[in-house]
Amino acid sequence: MSDAQLTARSLELLLGTWRTSAASYAALADRIRLLVLDGRVPIGTRLPAERDLAGRLQLSRTTVAAAYRQLREGGFVDSVRGSGSVTRLPGRTLPLPATGGEGMLDFTKASLPAASPLAAAARAAAEELPRFLPDPGYDPVGLPHLRAEIAERYTRRGLPTDPGQILVTVGAQQAIALIARTFLQRGDRVVIEVPTYPHAIEAMRLAGARLVPITVTAPEEGPHRLGEETDGWDAEGIEQTFRRANPALAYLIPDFHNPTGASMSPETRRRVLAAAAGHGTIVVADETTAELDIDRVGEYLPLPSYADPATPAAPIVMIGSASKTLWGGLRIGWIRAERSHIQRLIAAKPATDLGTPVIEQLVVAQLLPQLAEIAEERREQLRLGRAEVHRLVAETFPEWTVPPQHGGLTAWVGIGAPVSSALALAARSHGLLIAAGPRFGLDGAFERFLRIPITYTPEEYDRAFTALSRAWAVAASEPAPYFDQGALPSVV
Ligand SMILES: Cc1ncc(COP(=O)(O)O)c(C=O)c1O
Repeated sequence: MSDAQLTARSLELLLGTWRTSAASYAALADRIRLLVLDGRVPIGTRLPAERDLAGRLQLSRTTVAAAYRQLREGGFVDSVRGSGSVTRLPGRTLPLPATGGEGMLDFTKASLPAASPLAAAARAAAEELPRFLPDPGYDPVGLPHLRAEIAERYTRRGLPTDPGQILVTVGAQQAIALIARTFLQRGDRVVIEVPTYPHAIEAMRLAGARLVPITVTAPEEGPHRLGEETDGWDAEGIEQTFRRANPALAYLIPDFHNPTGASMSPETRRRVLAAAAGHGTIVVADETTAELDIDRVGEYLPLPSYADPATPAAPIVMIGSASKTLWGGLRIGWIRAERSHIQRLIAAKPATDLGTPVIEQLVVAQLLPQLAEIAEERREQLRLGRAEVHRLVAETFPEWTVPPQHGGLTAWVGIGAPVSSALALAARSHGLLIAAGPRFGLDGAFERFLRIPITYTPEEYDRAFTALSRAWAVAASEPAPYFDQGALPSVV
């Protein structure tokens, strides 16, 4: 539940292109319903007053009142005396988030099954466990040998690191939320890529951040070579944004960005770090997807390697995760930062979490030395998934565009018409959960994009594209959104 209030202007931004051939009140109600179902307007949010929204959208107050009435009748809004119209979902209890169970195919998860040596590593970890059982088991910073192994991996990649610079977390998600909560004050500006990983947006907002977007586009056609200018980021725009916003923090995904698959060129990395250094901005580099390289050309060093040694560097906090290389079910991630930052993070952590599970850490410590072979296995799985997505899009939706990509977990597909939300909602009725483009943005943008994971099997893609083509027939002809009563699951 949320106690947020939406201004008329914020709602207008979220609405995007909402007018259809339907009557205005019905189209408006449909679009607000979609925003609620899609999680973009949280349950419990107070909608703008009818008069304000009518003024903003240049509608009559009667039209807005009729839209709110329709939402109320459908169970999407409660009108509470003195509190206005508050969003809710129909039914007496909130539905649990929809999951991939019960015959549904869940493409909201861009994630691979467990790496093949995982079960053997779990058995080996169980053998090791007795050594740890005499301890209380509350491990707030991470097992020493795991931290040493993670530190050693950074050192081998060219970034000398000691174990005191590593904090093990419950997945990268906890790392993002902890960093936000520890380093941000309410009202601080945070630079964030759009589109981006949606739960980072939520974590920053929860910490009270004011988000300042920078745009990332999917890579251009052609071999994406080291140092290439057109990497998807607008370095000049980023410099201007830093000058204008003076941000406290920037959250970036420099390698195989989720959802576009783009990777920052070394030149962009240098310019981002120089801009951040000029403003004392903490740069958070989320490397959850960084090791999922299919066929990128060149050697990419960890972000701090691109700082200008002649000027005082921006503080850089790196996030890593075992979720995409080893298995999401382990829930192990980590933070690499200067010791003083790690100390602050450790001090802040117990408010929400008393330690990372020991057995899972043992499993990860077993598997990290095998990461090179596991990366090879991942490369083949992703290569296959990428080929399937390209083939099926070309066959099923020749008007859609799939950008070239050289790694990561997702294809950021251009669908040509602003109907991504309607498509995703219609796809549910055909057994496919998939995240619509606007899930990855801030303000209702990206209706012309659909994120398709490249992590599934040919059989699953056959089913998914059958569902998509049925849903497309509805969404493309009738952009007014479909809806059902399931809340949206997490999007990874
Ligand atoms: C960029 C990015 N960061 C963080 C996460 C969350 O990772 P974890 O499962 O380790 O919490 C994801 C998951 O998809 C991601 O794509």
